[in-house]
Amino acid sequence: MNHSRTRAAATALATALTTLALLAGGCTTALSGVRGTPGAAGLRDPYFPKLGNGGYDVRHYALTLAYDPRTGKLDGTAEITARAGQDLSAFNLDLAGLTVGRASVDGEPAAVNRAGNELTLRPREEIREGAEFRTTVTYEGVPEAVTDADGTREGWLRTDDGAVAVGQPVGSMTWFPGNHHPSDKAGYEITLTVPAGLEAVSNGVRTARRTAPDGRVTTVWKAPEPMASYLATVAIGRYRTDTATALGSVPVLTAADPAVAANSAALLDEIPKILDRQTRRFGPYPFTAAGAVVTEDGTLGYALETQTRPVFPASSFDRTILVHELAHQWFGNSVTPATWRDLWLNEGFATYAEWLYAEEFGHVPARTSFARAFAKDINWTFPPADPPAAENLFDPPVYQRGAMVLHKLRETVGDEVFGEILRGWPAKYRHANASTADFTSYVEAVAGRDLDGLWDVWLYGDGKPDRP
Ligand code: ARG
Ligand code: ZN
Repeated sequence: MNHSRTRAAATALATALTTLALLAGGCTTALSGVRGTPGAAGLRDPYFPKLGNGGYDVRHYALTLAYDPRTGKLDGTAEITARAGQDLSAFNLDLAGLTVGRASVDGEPAAVNRAGNELTLRPREEIREGAEFRTTVTYEGVPEAVTDADGTREGWLRTDDGAVAVGQPVGSMTWFPGNHHPSDKAGYEITLTVPAGLEAVSNGVRTARRTAPDGRVTTVWKAPEPMASYLATVAIGRYRTDTATALGSVPVLTAADPAVAANSAALLDEIPKILDRQTRRFGPYPFTAAGAVVTEDGTLGYALETQTRPVFPASSFDRTILVHELAHQWFGNSVTPATWRDLWLNEGFATYAEWLYAEEFGHVPARTSFARAFAKDINWTFPPADPPAAENLFDPPVYQRGAMVLHKLRETVGDEVFGEILRGWPAKYRHANASTADFTSYVEAVAGRDLDGLWDVWLYGDGKPDRP
């Protein structure tokens, strides 16, 4: 949950100003008002340089949202608790579309400026480095989905009877303002108000449900463990919900569109069993809730591992993808990429989790899954750890070849050490962020040797390796 890239520069500037003031006759008080500097407007992600914002670290989002499916209008209040990483004269939030009403910082009105997807807030008083501050933004409007570089649509997506929100990689800024880079994780509380007769589901545990005199229903969802904003979700509609318990104490809540509920019930019932198996392989389940949402086809362009409660379009809901999205709870959700360039750490592991599941329950050894993937005519032009552009982030090199890296690692270090890595990696970076370099140095430490040959060919090498 931390960013201090711009801090050194800000501190240097502050020191220079103070020195100037002293030279000018010691009138530091006159200049103390300009000590702070604006937080950066982006975190220079390799693919999305303006995504996220510098100068602060969000600790908690409290989102209060009312949605009217008839008009598509969303009314929101975001209360964002953050810690300043520098003396701040102003800071940014990412927000796409929508109309901002009022903004305040620590209860005092703040000036708001809008340029593209950057919302700049200038508090009345500067925020001191290290201070925790609370920003409140009210907003409203009909959210507009974003179209990704690869052509998929995401964000707040309207359905016949409601909406479903998914955000990988940049869609969450269409429904709430925030620090939308995966490196700034935070706890969430999401309060949803919808018309009578509809369900509203989000991440984590439902802690309250009340009906207003006008019939509208409000539910409160708490997701206290750190979450990257692309993993926040909301599903509103005539869902059928069901509950169960996993791992002895983890509440499971599933929701399925009535048109597909009967067909998905048996697979949804397998969630506790799959989590149990994955816990044995990957270590303790990282969250205090679990579940899934199955939507009607035609809205979602992809299934997503939204935290604690992955979402699936009905037509792609099968055991393999369920295993994949549940594995992401460890790989991606608990251990989150430092930048979008590290996405293979999510997709390679989640794909390898499919191979492991097939090995155990389908009697297909992982080496067979590897051989099949190697024989396929996939895109081999770029390596898992370096997609050339945003439109390639979700291409086969990140998924299949990412899993191949792990299989080659298993062959190199043996099943025992590989098993240790499968548990140790998510333990070491639990609820944190990690980069590819973190991974290779962690693995080399566990293996007790240099693995450059492996990384050079499978992780960083362009083109198809000569031999499987
Ligand atoms: N992470 C999702 C999965 O588990 C896929 C998301 C694809 N997103 C996109 N914008 N194409 O496979
Ligand atoms: Zn995935």
